Amino acid sequence: MIPVIHVEQIAEYIGQEVTIQGWVYNRTHKGKLVFLLVRDGYGFVQCVAFQKDLPPEIFETLVHIPQESSVRISGVVRADKRAPGIPGGYEIGVTGLEVVQAVAEEYPISLKEHGVDFLLDRRHLWIRTQHQWATLRVRATIVAAIHEWLGEHGFIHMDTPILTPAAGEGTTTLFEVDYFGEPTYLAQTGQLYNEANIFAFGKVYCFGPTFRAEKSKTRRHLTEFWMVEPEAAFCDLDELMEIEEQFISHIVQRVLRDRAAELAVLGRDTQALEQVIPPFPRISYDEALEIITQIREETDDPALKKQLQITWGNDLGSPHETELTQRFAKPVFVYGYPTAAKAFYMEPWPGRPDVSKSVDLLAPEGYGEIIGGSERISDPDLLLQRIHEHGLPEEAFRWYIDLRKFGSVPHSGFGLGVERTVTWICGLDHIRETIPYPRTLKRVYP
Ligand code: 4AD
Ligand code: MG
Repeated sequence: MIPVIHVEQIAEYIGQEVTIQGWVYNRTHKGKLVFLLVRDGYGFVQCVAFQKDLPPEIFETLVHIPQESSVRISGVVRADKRAPGIPGGYEIGVTGLEVVQAVAEEYPISLKEHGVDFLLDRRHLWIRTQHQWATLRVRATIVAAIHEWLGEHGFIHMDTPILTPAAGEGTTTLFEVDYFGEPTYLAQTGQLYNEANIFAFGKVYCFGPTFRAEKSKTRRHLTEFWMVEPEAAFCDLDELMEIEEQFISHIVQRVLRDRAAELAVLGRDTQALEQVIPPFPRISYDEALEIITQIREETDDPALKKQLQITWGNDLGSPHETELTQRFAKPVFVYGYPTAAKAFYMEPWPGRPDVSKSVDLLAPEGYGEIIGGSERISDPDLLLQRIHEHGLPEEAFRWYIDLRKFGSVPHSGFGLGVERTVTWICGLDHIRETIPYPRTLKRVYP
């Protein structure tokens, strides 16, 4: 019996006859030779067919086999440095072919350039191409590394609801759902429920889709995105930053170890990623504003000068984060944002009520915010005051205020956006390719 293998395992089979099951990605015919690039989900491998080695009808089939036809191909594995593929350096000398389905129509996605809207309309097929495949494999490894690190550090996974009675982050980006005649909202965050869960379990995390009716079209926003949110009891802002830097560096180092071939396909500069080890620089919001002001003064570009305008009290926007993080080789913590710029639940800075014990983690190389987090208000009266100040319905938050009445403790947590993280680690310039089926202002198909 010839073993059926995955292309990923090919290095273990040099000199042996194997079978791979997959799809024809590309075909080149040169006289008595046919080269097929075959993908099997796990990798891409070059299969070389010599006319003299094969029955005439099989060779003839190979000469004409259409792109994306499904096949079982048998052949002998050879090491050859020049062979393309992922992993590269191996090829299969074809000894047999079984066509599972010969594609009858012309495949809509050729391996040439297409416009991004054309490709997004065909996302269900686009994910088969190398760049997309590599990106989504890196995503899967990031997700695995997230669960791995949190599990190893005592955080237990607790699911939080998607249908919620009120805003978790802010009222401007809520998606409303009719819940048997009552309005409910798709979760913007699982945080508030995590806060309840830590009083039962100590350290928890939720990991699910979150929804924000983002009305702007940017490279960094989706309307449906995945967020992992760890939360810990008896944890202050400094301890939170330590957790975050260990966590992020584990994720990056795991991708470097397990997804080198995919990063190579993406042309990612891995030297930049190798530097992502603790400690990460920590700057205050006030210091960030000083750096931004200096960049503004030094630039000759009037458009940039305008974009970088900021007054104390405002949140950092994309242009600020882009400029700031281009000056850092590692992710950088910006802590102590103005209370007015952030969500309602953040603990005030001791002695500075207009500043919150918040921290964002900004990815380097211009990528910007990947994490938002904070220490949470632990006093029930202050929390109620904030709920009123933000115009939130007290009724819907009664349970949340309860948490501060029954054994309140200092506690902190953060949310990491998976797609922002994939964008950065893969070195992409747009978030839309980091999720299999992106949802944006203008797109819910396919
Ligand atoms: O900073 P945010 O809004 O924080 C929260 O939701 C907190 N409740 C998290 C917590 O403390 N448990 O969002 C957290 C992260 C951002 O840093 C970003 O990576 C990502 O979620 N994010 C988005 N990603 C894609 N599209 C969007 N529209 C996003 N909005 C936030
Ligand atoms: Mg944020």
